[in-house]
Amino acid sequence: MADALRVAIAGLGTVGAGTVEVLQQHADLIARRGGRAIQVVAVSARTRAKDRGVSLDGFEWYDDPVAMAREASVDVVVELIGGEDGPAKAVCEAAIAGGKHVVTANKALLAVHGNELAEAAEGAGVSLNYEAAIAGGIPIVKALREGLAGNEITHVYGILNGTCNYILTEMREKRLSFETVLEDAQKLGYAEAEPSVDVDGFDAAHKLALLASLAFGTQVSFDDVYTEGIRHVSLQDIDYAEEFGYRIKLLGSARMTEHGLEQRVYPCMVAKNAPIAHVESAYNAVVARGDFVDDTMYQGRGAGAGPTASAVVADIIDIARGFATTTFGVPVGELRGAEASPIERHRGAYYVRLMVDDQPGVIADISAAFRDESVSIGSMLQRARSQTEAVPIVLNTHVCEEAAMRRTLNRIEALDSVVEAPTMIRIESLV
Ligand SMILES: NC(=O)c1ccc[n+]([C@@H]2O[C@H](COP(=O)([O-])OP(=O)(O)OC[C@H]3O[C@@H](n4cnc5c(N)ncnc54)[C@H](OP(=O)(O)O)[C@@H]3O)[C@@H](O)[C@H]2O)c1
Repeated sequence: MADALRVAIAGLGTVGAGTVEVLQQHADLIARRGGRAIQVVAVSARTRAKDRGVSLDGFEWYDDPVAMAREASVDVVVELIGGEDGPAKAVCEAAIAGGKHVVTANKALLAVHGNELAEAAEGAGVSLNYEAAIAGGIPIVKALREGLAGNEITHVYGILNGTCNYILTEMREKRLSFETVLEDAQKLGYAEAEPSVDVDGFDAAHKLALLASLAFGTQVSFDDVYTEGIRHVSLQDIDYAEEFGYRIKLLGSARMTEHGLEQRVYPCMVAKNAPIAHVESAYNAVVARGDFVDDTMYQGRGAGAGPTASAVVADIIDIARGFATTTFGVPVGELRGAEASPIERHRGAYYVRLMVDDQPGVIADISAAFRDESVSIGSMLQRARSQTEAVPIVLNTHVCEEAAMRRTLNRIEALDSVVEAPTMIRIESLV
């Protein structure tokens, strides 16, 4: 057997400790598959004394992960610290500069600095592997970069954030508000104490930016991802969605259109009978549509020590095997810069909920706003009638352009009888 592949791991938290565990528990199996043993020789984290549930005996300890990346005599540096800048970025740069392969689970880092890191890795002739960065345990990078390489990808979309999917599932199944479920999820450790990166859609946007680059051979352009989170999704809207035959999911979706590259993360209604509607709780799923293969769907756990470490270890095994490919599927010099398609050009149907004072003429005023912007209403519901409280009017539109929909809602919001800002949720056709 060839010499062992020598590995340094920066970050020994959930994913780092999980990676050590997989490498230790499956050492023989991994050596057979990789054609050589994989040996962790150095590790770094903040607190040396912390019990991490795995044995660190025999590993050289570094307080400074960047010094480790620079100095340790290893073939691969695994970056599992996190964060788009700071030590994570410095670790990757130092490793690449020293001719060491890099494996990372860090979507924030790659979404923001992926182009420059890929260029540096290519220049140094080393791999930059990141399977764990998108949808955790789901091998979607391999699927797009290798399995579907003969196809033109026409659409890639998915449920990319397990925390949001868990919250939306719990809200619907247990009939609880967003705030209550979020609080419970924080107590159970499913959501961070500072939940913004997840619930405001940024984590899904990081992953979508990488998926888009892999799918369309474009430079990573995270700033062009239109991003909305799930804070404004109410139980009321979830109930109406059910009634209309939909489920609300936070989807990331990327496609190349005549107006440019569309990259969007937002909560939307998907038909209850669409396969993705049945991906519940903390699960992730990605659908990639190729012109020859048609729809392919990948589902699994998008986070947690085991699933994420599974993907990290697969990336290390690729390096042990001598398997190398370009970071985003084509050489960096061939990645295209793509014009971003603005959200105003989005075309689709919309769900709208208005809270109104139940006065004579209110429906006529609302209908006039739709008519004046040439947005056609598909169906409309007005449930309870009340002299004293605002009542909901709920409607679905036919397909229209988002710019027209927004102008319509501005007109409606200005009406005296409309007592709160309209709620608008896109209905995603997925065809
Ligand atoms: N958790 C998941 O399920 C998951 C899923 C997919 C991708 N990821 C990605 O994987 C990466 C790691 O996530 P995680 O959940 O494992 O994070 P984590 O549990 O917070 O672990 C981070 C680790 O980095 C170490 N660290 C932080 N700052 C450091 C510094 N300046 N110098 C040296 N070590 C430092 C910490 O040390 P101490 O332990 O001593 O504090 C800790 O061991 C992130 O990029 C994340 O986005 C995570």
